[in-house]
Amino acid sequence: MKILVNGGLGFIGSHTVVELVNSGYDPIIVDDLSNSDIRILDQLTKIIGFKPTFHQLDLCDEQAVKNFADSQKDIVGIIHFAAFKAVGESVNLPLKYYRNNFFSLVNVLNAFEGRGMNLVFSSSCTVYGQPEQLPVTEAAPVQTAQSPYGNTKQVAEEILNDVIASGSDYKMISLRYFNPVGAHESALIGEQPIGVPQNLVPFITQTAIGKREKLMVWGGDYNTPDGSCIRDYIHVVDLGRAHVAALKLMEKEDFTGIDFFNIGTGKGSSVLEVIKAFEEATGLKLNYEIAPRRDGDVEQVWGDATKSTEKLNWKAELDLSTMMSSAWKWENYIAQNPL
Ligand code: UD1
Repeated sequence: MKILVNGGLGFIGSHTVVELVNSGYDPIIVDDLSNSDIRILDQLTKIIGFKPTFHQLDLCDEQAVKNFADSQKDIVGIIHFAAFKAVGESVNLPLKYYRNNFFSLVNVLNAFEGRGMNLVFSSSCTVYGQPEQLPVTEAAPVQTAQSPYGNTKQVAEEILNDVIASGSDYKMISLRYFNPVGAHESALIGEQPIGVPQNLVPFITQTAIGKREKLMVWGGDYNTPDGSCIRDYIHVVDLGRAHVAALKLMEKEDFTGIDFFNIGTGKGSSVLEVIKAFEEATGLKLNYEIAPRRDGDVEQVWGDATKSTEKLNWKAELDLSTMMSSAWKWENYIAQNPL
């Protein structure tokens, strides 16, 4: 079964391509290379044993997307990553985020409408803001977004809801990711932040390898057991598998409309616990210091994954230690084989 993977050369997209192939699907990758590297295609080839189909396409170009959809009659499902995701940048360049994240989604929905498609959308736990109850379930209210990036995820979910409410023949699943980290065990693909990483784990590995001098732990005075923020870190390979599980659920006759799932481990880890897990997994000592809080950070969030376990038949299997050791292996790989 041919599955369109929009943004399939990115961090989560590339890992999902591997899991699709492992489960017998035929991924068709579309990417505009705005935040990814064409050489990931060769890296994927090394992992899966053949070169996946790839189209360089700007999904914001409505006519190009229509032409592409018309030329692809066998696609039965779509996984839509293809979005910008840097929270800080989105505050400074909101229109860049609204243009890319909305135009691409709307163009894709329009172009494939009426073909009975199954669609998986990349959403985020950011839609919950700071939840009142932890772990947060899918029934928790969506809170006012803290950034244009977060707003694109919330409004995109509303767009999907509205399309389904209109009687469209799409089936849809929105996956609300917690914090994706780690890399494929081959270390041939992983996260490649451009410039100084904003996310925790790439900053840790770059500090350990000597690219950065010191990790700043943003805030040591939160109302958490050790004072640092808590997140639900999820291995990107587990996350890739969740997309396969979502496709499988939608392939069932009795699935209709749209559903939303938390994709996390169900367990929170503090920044200091992540550092400790990294040190234990690698035997290294990390240079870090506690610094003032970062604007816009929520204190703690982790997900209840019960619904995903029961309905998607999916569960995170890889632990924090594996997340850290695989991220470290990848950092070493790109140090020696710069992409
Ligand atoms: C954010 C977004 C999330 C998005 C993700 C990917 C929110 C609430 N969350 O996650 O939706 O999918 O980025 O880009 O908008 N930290 C440090 N030092 C660092 C870097 C991070 O201490 O140098 C801490 C942060 O304060 C935070 C934790 O590490 O407590 C995780 O941060 P990060 O990796 O940036 O992810 P989020 O902000 O949780």
